[in-house]
Amino acid sequence: MAKVCITDGVPKAGLDELRAAGHEILTWDRAQPPTRTELLDHVRGADAVLTVLTDKVDEEFLDAAGPQLKVVANIAAGFNNIDLDSCRKRQVFVSNTPGVLFESTADTAFALLLMVTRRFGEAERFIRSGKPWQYRTTFMLGHAIQSMTIGLIGAGQIGTAMARRCRAFGMRIAYASEHPMKAPARDELEAVGLPLDELIATSDVISLHCPLTPETYHLLNAERLAAMKPDAYVINTARGACIDEQALVEALRSGHLAGAGLDVYEHEPEIASGLLEMENVVLLPHLGSATVETRATMTGLAAKNALAVLNGEPPLTPVH
Ligand code: DGY
Repeated sequence: MAKVCITDGVPKAGLDELRAAGHEILTWDRAQPPTRTELLDHVRGADAVLTVLTDKVDEEFLDAAGPQLKVVANIAAGFNNIDLDSCRKRQVFVSNTPGVLFESTADTAFALLLMVTRRFGEAERFIRSGKPWQYRTTFMLGHAIQSMTIGLIGAGQIGTAMARRCRAFGMRIAYASEHPMKAPARDELEAVGLPLDELIATSDVISLHCPLTPETYHLLNAERLAAMKPDAYVINTARGACIDEQALVEALRSGHLAGAGLDVYEHEPEIASGLLEMENVVLLPHLGSATVETRATMTGLAAKNALAVLNGEPPLTPVH
């Protein structure tokens, strides 16, 4: 019997296979997530850990878990919270949950796109404020997305699912050729690959769907934000640190950009100063994959990955 430590409260159905295999399972079911000290205590002696994206899996974490640890199964597509080199050195497998959350995350990105271009976030806040209103021909007009070009930075499963939604709503699709879109989706969607800087300079909306890596850290910096078309929009459901948030605040404040829809932040749960006051910004608390169905599937996949390793096999969806 192996010890499997899960660092959050997770949908129980996702753990059926691990339970059936007779492993000891320790979840974190308290109202608050663990502090760092509690986290290190919680994973002590684990053979497998199921982690979430707020857990920093570094040397200290791996030391705390101990030398018997065989697998870190992240319940997320992203894995920027995990020190892959340290895991590799210790022969600890790392896995993530690709292929099961792209529709939910694309839904979130598309919802942000509509909310910000049609001013629905602002409009909802307006109604709740109790201010008087009446139907008027020019009241709270947004912009039609139908003639816009969406520029995708990252055109993997999530970016492609976002492109499908945008195409169905009459948008033109472009993607950064550095992070290309695969055929046949590329052809079906008539998507155009452009070098990153050209994409940034010609798109009406930039939507981020890339992993956070040293190359994508602050990829949308002050210079690139300034190079965007005037009145363009930014959507981010990837990772907060892909954007220099202070530079974004400045680009919005100056009126150069029309708005932003954000689900992720560099220093979650902190929101960069300035964003909260802006009416043309829609802010969500990292809900990309947050549906009952998707979170159960993500948990189930992470559990399968852990189980495979405990059975002496490689994970189903390893991170290389
Ligand atoms: C992921 O899987 O990386 C998402 O951000 C979780 O919602």
